Amino acid sequence: MSDRRRFLQTATALLLSGSFPARAQPRFSSYPFTLGVASGYPSPGGVALWTRPTGEFEAGAIPVRWEIAADEAMRKVVASGTGQASPEWAHSVHAEPTGLEADRWYWYRFTAGDAQSPIGRTRTAPMGGAQPARLRFGVASCQHYEQGYFSAYRHMVADDPDLIAFLGDYIYESHWGRDLVRSHGSPEPYTLEDYRARYALYKSDPDLQAAHAACPWIVTWDDHEVDNDYADDRAEDGMEKVQFLERRAAAYRAYYEHMPLPERMKPRGPDMRIYNTLDWGSLARFYTLDDRQYRSWHACPRPGRRGGSNTVDVEQCGQLSSPGRSMLGRAQERWLDAALGESRAAWNVLAQQTPMAQFDQKPGPGRRAWTDGWDGYPAARQRLFESLVSRKARNPVVLGGDVHSFNVNQLKADFDRPDSPVVASEFVCTSITSQAWAQERLNQYLPDNPHMLLVDSRYRGYARADVTPGRMSVELRAMGDVRKRDSACSTLATFVVENGKPGPVKA
Ligand SMILES: [Fe+2]
Repeated sequence: MSDRRRFLQTATALLLSGSFPARAQPRFSSYPFTLGVASGYPSPGGVALWTRPTGEFEAGAIPVRWEIAADEAMRKVVASGTGQASPEWAHSVHAEPTGLEADRWYWYRFTAGDAQSPIGRTRTAPMGGAQPARLRFGVASCQHYEQGYFSAYRHMVADDPDLIAFLGDYIYESHWGRDLVRSHGSPEPYTLEDYRARYALYKSDPDLQAAHAACPWIVTWDDHEVDNDYADDRAEDGMEKVQFLERRAAAYRAYYEHMPLPERMKPRGPDMRIYNTLDWGSLARFYTLDDRQYRSWHACPRPGRRGGSNTVDVEQCGQLSSPGRSMLGRAQERWLDAALGESRAAWNVLAQQTPMAQFDQKPGPGRRAWTDGWDGYPAARQRLFESLVSRKARNPVVLGGDVHSFNVNQLKADFDRPDSPVVASEFVCTSITSQAWAQERLNQYLPDNPHMLLVDSRYRGYARADVTPGRMSVELRAMGDVRKRDSACSTLATFVVENGKPGPVKA
């Protein structure tokens, strides 16, 4: 960036901050930056920066200054500004510096009154036409606070990733599980205040804060950010639509208040567009998808219930395969199809929530489906596969979470025909802490699912992906025991996808 542009940017920022002189120096009774700092959605020229001061504040908005620098000591500040942290948005700050250099690391911090935040590290993405030699990213999902410590992030940070993709269940609304190590300390959230408190609790985890401060994140949500197994406007627990949409609005708002999201993603009432693309030069395009907000209601729920079921016999549920049913909603389907068509990337990475491969859970003849995942939306899955093929998306790779196990799958045009071509690769990443089904239960299903190359629910952890023009290598990183604060982590298996050859191969 030229000196002149830098001067103009700083001058604008000073003017902005100068227009609120009366509140220039808020005082805090305690250190306000207890939730850390975060960054997200890097572009070649900018990145979204986030913090949320906490504590006892005077009424009204407080000015929070942000700075981003080219060096770790924050001596070479290249852009700065002052945002108004208002109580309507829980004093969250979403700053968006522009005019940064592409493809390099930066450092940032916030100042409010005499308090200064920790320094976070972030980076910009490469230019659109650039051909980066490599990209490393981490994959995480499903972090039940009561079920373990978030120490997997310590190992992820040690990998020095360029980017972290979070695939849903950042908080849990519900209390469940065995051998809990800590407590939510409050009942299930329903109101905005409840959800804010739940996010603040989760964000107090030091390993999670360190991972946010280490590199930019891209994020999507799953059900537990609102309520288990919800579908669009339909609650699992039978809550009426109007009340549920109020609950969803509170949950989405608290989500925005606590995530490093650009301001354009701000929710409007119960609606918040989170689906998005991110380009890493011509090496990779990420598509963060929203599997929750627009999906059709679950097919064939258990009698007297709503939500997903894992006991649906597909032959006895005609509704399941109805072509009108959608996982993404028609608008997001059309957006994804167009975004795939425009992509020039060597790797097309779908970062979304739930497992996509068919998973027959009935040993022997017949098939039983779990209807909260893509198995509950087979026609929509087929449309997505057709889109990948007709749009000639190069090297499609689907990332998923939600089931708290490592699943490595071939995504096949027709799962019931062994000779059917592989359309894409799928890596379902295990949970940071959330507990899973027993491995023995999964093992009995494996003979009926030959396209599933690995299914392992024994470990919590994360995935580490290294992308080059020629291959993507994915290491499944398994934690020893997340009920201990200092658990070791080791590689369970490594799978490779070679350029032009769809389907993962064990390294
Ligand atoms: Fe989960």
